[in-house]
Amino acid sequence: MIIAPSILSMHFDDFKNQIYDLNNNADWIHFDVMDGHFVPNLSFGPAIFKTFRRNSPLFLDVHLMVDDPFYYSEVFAKAGADSIIFHYEALDNPIKCLELIDKIHAMHIKAGLSIKPKTPVDAIQPLLSQIDICLVMSVEPGFGGQSFIEDSIMKIKKLDDYRKIFHLQYLIEVDGGVNDKNAAILRQCGTDVLVAGSYVFEGSIKENIDKLRTAK
Ligand code: DX5
Ligand code: ZN
Repeated sequence: MIIAPSILSMHFDDFKNQIYDLNNNADWIHFDVMDGHFVPNLSFGPAIFKTFRRNSPLFLDVHLMVDDPFYYSEVFAKAGADSIIFHYEALDNPIKCLELIDKIHAMHIKAGLSIKPKTPVDAIQPLLSQIDICLVMSVEPGFGGQSFIEDSIMKIKKLDDYRKIFHLQYLIEVDGGVNDKNAAILRQCGTDVLVAGSYVFEGSIKENIDKLRTAK
């Protein structure tokens, strides 16, 4: 499984040590972009992102929680993103989603689509053949440290079934409330990428990542 720590919970006063630990133990770095409108919180812009780009060789996974993903996909592509994941709910229109997926691919970046806990998988089913990553939000987006919403398991299973039935290739990524207690079931039901914020940065980054990888 790909372990993608969310730097929303990183301790920025210890940046040097923490980025060292991430570079040596994580697979990806998950970068949450919040605009204060799509979600009631603000996070990081492209200047902070570029600091990560300069200090890490890892795959940088950008999760856009913004009203205008067309604009910000370009901003973060230029800043060196490896993937851009946007929210279906921000556009709420399959044709516009396809347009943005094409735009992201034209910038030679992996394109991901995310759904909030209340959005059913069926809403994005026609788009699944076009994306590289499907991100299931297992908490309401906006904040770290919330509890995992159990219904997310059914959504992951459904995405895994669709992938098998239609011979598709997208990765299934899960974000929110992930820890060593639910990592095993998430892996068993088809998750490829585990995002974890508060769990990874409380205590030893290396040990916590190891526990996610080996959870049974
Ligand atoms: C929440 C973000 C998550 C967040 C997860 O909107 O998308 O990436 O950092 O934090 P935890 O793992 O603490 O739930
Ligand atoms: Zn996220």
